[in-house]
Amino acid sequence: MLRTKRVHLAGVFPALIAGVLLLSGCGEASQTPQDKGTKPGQAGATPVVAQPVPGEQGKQPGGIRIGFVVKQPEELWFQNEWKFARMAAEKYGFELLTLGASDGERVLNVIDTLGTKGAQGFVICAPETRMGPAIMARAQKYAMKVIAVDDQFVGADGKFMQVPYMGLSAREIGRNVGKALWAEMRRRQWPITETAACAITHDELNTVKERTDGAAEALVEAGFPAERIFRSNEREMIIPSAHEAASITLTQHNDVKYWLVFSVNDEGVLGAVRALAERGLGADRTIGIGIGAGTGLLELKKETPSGFFGTVMISPYRHGYETTEMLYKWIKDGVPPPLDTRTAGVLATRENYKQVIKDLGLEDVAGDK
Ligand code: GLA
Repeated sequence: MLRTKRVHLAGVFPALIAGVLLLSGCGEASQTPQDKGTKPGQAGATPVVAQPVPGEQGKQPGGIRIGFVVKQPEELWFQNEWKFARMAAEKYGFELLTLGASDGERVLNVIDTLGTKGAQGFVICAPETRMGPAIMARAQKYAMKVIAVDDQFVGADGKFMQVPYMGLSAREIGRNVGKALWAEMRRRQWPITETAACAITHDELNTVKERTDGAAEALVEAGFPAERIFRSNEREMIIPSAHEAASITLTQHNDVKYWLVFSVNDEGVLGAVRALAERGLGADRTIGIGIGAGTGLLELKKETPSGFFGTVMISPYRHGYETTEMLYKWIKDGVPPPLDTRTAGVLATRENYKQVIKDLGLEDVAGDK
């Protein structure tokens, strides 16, 4: 359904924008960020006639088929990864199969499905990183190439596997959260003795453990007392689990006046912010900073501010578009992707989020087009 037009792309953001335009059916060649005025559905313009693009044999039998498997399809982050993967499919003319797999059994089933459908490879965020060896063995059965995204495979020896991976610079992003919490706390002149930090953690998964460890580390380095950081591990990385985990901390420390909140992602912070709000601790008593590119933005866009102060914005474009692009080139031209690619984050608050979204070329994700 997506293979329609020829585009010439010079770089990441033009590529993104051209992709957006292609999806919205109004694309023209060589769009630049300045040309972004066009709105989805504003196609009025003459339809561009489909022309073959290099490698555009994707939809033919025997063409290139690529899977994109995610552990939590209901999470906005993963939906956005899919959205950008579809843009890569559109640009290069391969077929993209998006599949959710929330447990080990489903992962193996979807690999079988992909193998049976003739996919030559897949990008995956697995529900369990220790499934790495099983995933690779199953992929090998069908001679499929694999790129891990977000969560890195762990081998039987407990070490990260040598499988191409794109993930966050997790520790650094966490440290940014910690520094921003500290700066805002100081700006509000909250006394340290009346302030505590509620950390919603999920230590089973390295990329997210690094984030909360990084945030705690930066806070302590700045002068926040380590003993006033209360950690509570969430069972799943979803808002209700975070809410549950936060409730335990808040019940144990109901004498605290001001709260800093950090977690593994936006959902973790939102769960805690909700639990605080239920106890009457709102925007004036809470500073919560998430990590993400979707759920937190929705919160920042709400008219009334909550304790969710900001989010370190990460890039579903890079994780969705670039991973599938790398896989496509690996399959088509035999160009192997780098083994380890790390992406960065930028703090967005109510003050600057529109600009950050623009700078990152993520208006499409933010629904701001
Ligand atoms: C993990 C988390 C997601 C998201 C990604 C980003 O997979 O579960 O919420 O933060 O990392 O890489």
